[in-house]
Amino acid sequence: MEITRIMIIGAGAMGAGIAQVAAQAGYRVILNDVAEAFVQKGMAAISGTLDKQVHKEKISSDDRKIILDRIIPSTKLEDGKDADFVLEVIFEDFEAKKSIFETLDTLCKPQAIFASNTSSIPITRLAATTKRPEQFIGMHFFNPAPVMKLVEIIRGIKTSEETIAITEQIAARMDKTSVRVKDVPGFLVNRINNAMRNEAKNCLLEGVATIEDIDTALKLGLRLPMGPFELEDFVGLDVALNVSKTLYDGYKDVKWRPNRTMEQLAISGDLGRKTGKGWYDYTSGEKKPRTDIEF
Ligand code: 3HC
Repeated sequence: MEITRIMIIGAGAMGAGIAQVAAQAGYRVILNDVAEAFVQKGMAAISGTLDKQVHKEKISSDDRKIILDRIIPSTKLEDGKDADFVLEVIFEDFEAKKSIFETLDTLCKPQAIFASNTSSIPITRLAATTKRPEQFIGMHFFNPAPVMKLVEIIRGIKTSEETIAITEQIAARMDKTSVRVKDVPGFLVNRINNAMRNEAKNCLLEGVATIEDIDTALKLGLRLPMGPFELEDFVGLDVALNVSKTLYDGYKDVKWRPNRTMEQLAISGDLGRKTGKGWYDYTSGEKKPRTDIEF
């Protein structure tokens, strides 16, 4: 089956990033969200990233126009009726995803493949909300999607080999490297990364080192681009907490129990860079240690 038209549901940072990558790979893209304002925000983000690429002479301004012209803004799921591949990239809420997939199942052509970028909800559970579990797959991108080279491809219990092969071809055309992963809580990268971040928080709790020193140590000692606390502020403490809860619920092992301070920060609305405060304070425009909380 030839894939030419991809619908992306959710025009937030991840959805917009994936839409850009898909359009740059030559696909026709339908970028959908519930409100015009959300779609336009996503389009503006893509436009801004492409502007930077033009400025750095990585693409020409003609390329920029061609790429943007390939993306059709949408606020109606009906716009996906001719899509060959639909990727859902909304917030982590099973009921919301279920409702979208149930609707798409009735609107989209029977051969269309459905995918979810979920980082925490089992693919088999999402697939079971549709009448096409063989054509349902996990396609997990990493933030920021235009930069990060990896795509985890998660096979639900009924996902067909053909669906996996097609999804791998799409990832390759997007210039991503894919790995096949079984449908287990946290999949692969979040599972391993969460274990490391939990251990970093245990070190903080035991007073082994400060947040800044733990980040510095792991960046310089392991050549990571960001330390564990910087990374949580970057992806959002709400997202990180969700992943942590999924692992704890899924494995029922105390080693995955979400860190209490992370939970408290998230509950109090300190979600990291996007809200100005998380493990660090960004309100001055620069990353600074927090002085209002004693960790
Ligand atoms: N969108 C598009 N491009 C972006 C971008 C964005 N949001 N952010 C940065 N870039 C590009 C820049 O334009 C630049 O491009 P260039 O090389 O062509 O000039 C390049 O990335 C490097 O950016 P900067 O020089 O501004 O900054 P850094 O070198 O500090 O890199 C970073 C920024 C790429 C975010 C880097 O710090 C990094 O790799 N951090 C770790 C990211 C990570 O681990 N992501 C995974 C999170 S976990 C996840 O997503 C799973 C989920 O389920 C929770």
